[in-house]
Amino acid sequence: MKLLILFLFLLSTPLILVTTQDTDDFANQSDPNLLGLRKEEKLSHLKLYWHDIVSGKNPTSIVVVPPPPSNMNLTTAFGMVDIIDNPLTLGPELSSKLVGRAQGLYASTSQSEVNLLMAMNFVITDGKYSGSSITILGRNPTFNKVREMSVIGGSGYFRFARGYAELRTHYFSPKTMNAIVEYNIYVLHYSCSDALHKKLLNLILITLVPYILFLPF
Ligand SMILES: *[C@@H]1O[C@H](CO)[C@@H](O)[C@H](O)[C@H]1NC(C)=O
Ligand SMILES: *[C@@H]1O[C@H](CO)[C@@H](O)[C@H](O)[C@H]1NC(C)=O
Repeated sequence: MKLLILFLFLLSTPLILVTTQDTDDFANQSDPNLLGLRKEEKLSHLKLYWHDIVSGKNPTSIVVVPPPPSNMNLTTAFGMVDIIDNPLTLGPELSSKLVGRAQGLYASTSQSEVNLLMAMNFVITDGKYSGSSITILGRNPTFNKVREMSVIGGSGYFRFARGYAELRTHYFSPKTMNAIVEYNIYVLHYSCSDALHKKLLNLILITLVPYILFLPF
């Protein structure tokens, strides 16, 4: 039995190599059923608080490109680029439950107002969406009461995601420049039952590999 498994394993490896090397058909039409795309789309609503910590010993938001001195405008900060790894929490307090991180950047892109171009991945680290991420891209005129940005994609549960995020400033200190923003994200995505299949396959592989490796020859 063990030898048979080993034999099949060895046989399959060169076969895969040969087939992938021999063909130059690298893009084909695929069956949407294979990725569960014929299923109904689900709408999820996520409510999170985004903490832009600029001051103190452990900032999560740092200016990597300051506005150019030749063209400095302290109001708009036009030209500034900031990289973030901001905590996402369940409640508005930083001490409330950490459920993910917002990793990405924002840049000041308006010469007439405070407006940020934002590109972020919201990485969920807690709950049923743990390990999945949502990609957000949009325009953020930070002093407007409500701002809206696009959900342009995602990974894991959020594959093929689309939707939008609504932002409302919960707290802002002009002194420290720290901000807490409430995010309401509405996202359409397909249920990923294949995530379960993947886990099962991984489990089988993990148990099989040592079994094959430690075969007595
Ligand atoms: C595309 O289709 C051809 C013909 O069915 C097949 O040989 C090839 O492997 C396919 N390529 C991919 C990337 O699926
Ligand atoms: C900064 O930009 C604003 C908006 O365009 C403008 O009203 C202001 O005069 C500018 N400030 C300076 C110092 O150039």
